[in-house]
Amino acid sequence: MVCEGKNKSYLKSQNLKIIGRSNLRGKVKISGAKNSALVLLAASLLTNEKITLDNVPLLTDVEKMSNILKNLGVKLQIKNHQLIIDSTNISIKELPYELVNGFRASFFCIGALLARFGQASIPLPGGCNIGKRPINEHINGLKALGAEIIIEKEIVKAKLVENKNRLLGANIRLNCPSVGATETLIMAASLAEGRTVIENAAREPEIQDLCQMLNKMGAKIYDSGKEKIIIDGVQKLHGCSHKVIPDRIEAGTFLIAAAATSSSITVSPVIPNHLEAVLNKLEESGSKITKKGNSISIKSNNIKAVDITTAPFPGFPTDLQAPFMALMSIAKGRSKVTETIFENRMNHVELLNQMGSSITVKNNIAQINGVKELSGMTLVGSDLRSSAALIIAALISKKTSHIYGLEHLDRGYENFELKLSKLGVEIIRETKRKIISEKSYENSKINNKKLSEIKVA
Ligand code: EPZ
Repeated sequence: MVCEGKNKSYLKSQNLKIIGRSNLRGKVKISGAKNSALVLLAASLLTNEKITLDNVPLLTDVEKMSNILKNLGVKLQIKNHQLIIDSTNISIKELPYELVNGFRASFFCIGALLARFGQASIPLPGGCNIGKRPINEHINGLKALGAEIIIEKEIVKAKLVENKNRLLGANIRLNCPSVGATETLIMAASLAEGRTVIENAAREPEIQDLCQMLNKMGAKIYDSGKEKIIIDGVQKLHGCSHKVIPDRIEAGTFLIAAAATSSSITVSPVIPNHLEAVLNKLEESGSKITKKGNSISIKSNNIKAVDITTAPFPGFPTDLQAPFMALMSIAKGRSKVTETIFENRMNHVELLNQMGSSITVKNNIAQINGVKELSGMTLVGSDLRSSAALIIAALISKKTSHIYGLEHLDRGYENFELKLSKLGVEIIRETKRKIISEKSYENSKINNKKLSEIKVA
């Protein structure tokens, strides 16, 4: 697992050297879901008993969340992909800024800490380069459950209202189906007194995975899988063992990479109905998809242009918008990609155009004219999913590419280059003999912003 901190500049000197015109073949093993593992780690704060998590992906984001829990006094043992979490003796204290800066998932701890200890202090997660990432839905929902919240010097301080020793169940209607806010409120409500109903809740599979683990811990959550989630609070939650679901976004990224290189591969394990919207669009654009148990196979040739619009689950996931745009950049015909979830999730367009794509963007709608080929070059990814899109573009391109910005990629894709090389891609992670100077790295520009100013998603 790649560490943070001192290794950060080390990571900046790393790039993936990719020989273009790749063809993928064979089977790729999908890791546990990043966006499930992170919230399950936060949920482990709800009990003073041991939680054993299996199929945990080895990612820098998981390492960051583990460091946050350790800072609170949680004991963690990691063995391969198993994490044993012991939150028996944790102390409530403010999380240090350097641990949470630019790491949005840290905010998921607020609901669990408030529910278990009646108070929590978490630095504002702040925006990133895909959007402002507000937390109003989290705050309003926690207040409805009986929390008093003030924000002082960028710290969100939450506590129970006077003379109350537990949160109180409430009816909450989210204005937007926020994944994080739904997760925060489910965790807070699981130990509240009485019933909580969350309307217009997000329905992502990672939320269903959270509900399954909490119910194993003794929670009473009726997750209809619809927009309404009912939670009857209990006094205490106990330990359990739980296996993280497969990462649908990683699986989708590999399927899109296969379509972009006219390849045939199989991804497994995966839960096919977690990717319905993506599979439909891959079939509509000409790929042949076969689902068999927990495997999905794809066979692709002559991809044609199709339009996509991102939407909350079960719609087309925003996290696969950038990789799919790389596919559309060489599809036959004109396509339109509409991003409805985040206000600034088109950082990859400028870079794809530098490689020879023909894409224009206006008001979060990208118009794409498919081109015959792309040309490899040296690029710097600026967020997790944009970096994946650039790698897909590099696989398609003639000539060789060097993709920097691996500190973003390693947040969400475990052993990405190893998995690609097992599929037959000529790809290696190069470390420049000398660490490229911070200056030259930071002077690289994306959308005329210095890299140093760009936070990660
Ligand atoms: C989660 O982020 C994921 N991250 C994101 O994955 C994913 O893109 C996103 O859900 C949408 O599916 C994790 O699970 C760690 P949201 P989250 O709250 O919870 C607005 C990746 O690449 N909003 O559902 O932060 C917000 O501005 C990452 O793996 C409010 O207005 O996303 C956005 O427009 C990137 N107020 C929309 O909702 C709020 O209080 C969706 O955000 C919260 C959100």
